[in-house]
Amino acid sequence: MDISKIKEQFKSLYGADGAVYTSPGRINLIGEHTDYNGGFVLPGAIDKALYCVIRPNGTAKVRAYAPDENPQTVAIKSEFGLEESDKPKERWAQYIFGVCREMTKKGAKIPGFDIIISGDVPLGAGMSSSAALESCVGFALNDSFQLGFDRFQIALIGQATEHNYVGVKCGIMDQFASCFGKEGSLIRLDCRSLEYEYFPFDPKGYRLVLINTCVAHMLGGEYNERRESCERVVATIAQQHPEVKLLRDADTDMLKEVAGKVSAVDYIRAEFVIEEIQRLLDTCELLKKGDYEAAGRKMYETHTGLSLKYTVSCPELDFLNEFAKQSGVTGSRLMGGGFGGCTINLVKDERYDDFIQKATDAYHQKFGIRAKVYDAVIKDGARKI
Ligand code: GLA
Repeated sequence: MDISKIKEQFKSLYGADGAVYTSPGRINLIGEHTDYNGGFVLPGAIDKALYCVIRPNGTAKVRAYAPDENPQTVAIKSEFGLEESDKPKERWAQYIFGVCREMTKKGAKIPGFDIIISGDVPLGAGMSSSAALESCVGFALNDSFQLGFDRFQIALIGQATEHNYVGVKCGIMDQFASCFGKEGSLIRLDCRSLEYEYFPFDPKGYRLVLINTCVAHMLGGEYNERRESCERVVATIAQQHPEVKLLRDADTDMLKEVAGKVSAVDYIRAEFVIEEIQRLLDTCELLKKGDYEAAGRKMYETHTGLSLKYTVSCPELDFLNEFAKQSGVTGSRLMGGGFGGCTINLVKDERYDDFIQKATDAYHQKFGIRAKVYDAVIKDGARKI
C-alpha cells in the first residue's frame, strides 16, 4: 500500500498535511458465528488494512474523500455535519458518521475534520473491511482529538456503528481483532467476558492461505436472522434454566429439552453454535500440541456445520472446500459471516503451489471467475503511522 500517494492526495485536496492512521482486516482460524453468542473466536489481524489521513478543518463539518470507490457508481466525496440528522447518503461515509455519532453519545466533542480513506482490504471478502474502517476512523479521531477512549471502547464503538448506522447486528470479533491484533499471534477472545489471550501462531511446515471466491451473495438480513434464531432458543431454554443468557451458557442436553418448543431451523442453528464453541476450545488444545492435522480436521467440521446446519455457505465456497479436501489439504473452511468471500486453508508447504494452481483453475472452469489468493500474514492492529 502506497501511503505517500494518499498523503499527497490529502495535501492537494485540503491544502495541508494530515496525520496518518491504519487499522487492519482480519482472519479467523476457527469459531464462526460464536461471538454474538458469547462464545470464543480465534482471529488475527492481517497485512491488508485501511488507512486514513485526517486533520481538523476549523468548521463543524466533515469533508471525506474515498478515492478507491468507483466514481461511476458512487460519489467519492461526501460532506456532512455531526448531528444525528446529518447522516450522509454514501454507505462508505455512513461508517465514518456512525463512529462520530457513537463517540459523541459517549460525551466526546468532535470538531469538523477533513479525511481521506484508502486501503487494500478486499471488500465483501469476509476479511472485515468495514470493521477496519470503523477502527481506523475511531483510532484516528481518538488520537487526533485526545478523546480518551481505550482500544476496548474503540472496538465497541465500531460494533455499535454497525448496529445503529449500518443495520448489521454483528458480534465484537472483527473490531476487536482490528484494534488488538498482534504480529505473529492469533487472539483467543472470550466474547462473553471479553478476556483475551494472544496465541502465538507459527505452524512450521504449513501455510495459511485465503482463496477469495469473489462472490458476495448476502442479500441483507440473513446475518441478523441467524442471530435472532439463537436468541429465540436462548429465551426458550431460559424458561427452565434462567442462568442461560447466551448460547455459550447452554449445552446440548439443555438444547434437547427444548426440541419440540423451537422451530427445527432454530434448533439446528443453535446446535451448530454450541458445537462450534466446543470445537474452538478443542482446536486450541490441538494447536498447543502442534497437531495441525487434527486442527485442520476441525476446520473441515466447521465448514460442514456452517454449510449444512447454519446454512451460510454457497456453491462457490462449498466447491473450494470440497476441492481442498479432495486435494489432501490439511484444513479448509469458509471464513467470516458467509454467503461468499473467502475460504481459509491450512496447507502443507509442499502442496501449496500445486493446490493453489489447481484450485483456482478448477474454480475458473466451474464458475467462470478468477479467484484471488492471499497469504495470511498476521500483523499488528490499529496504530498511527
Ligand atoms: C461477521 C461479523 C462477526 C462474526 C462473523 C461470523 O464477520 O461481523 O461479528 O459474527 O461474521 O463469525
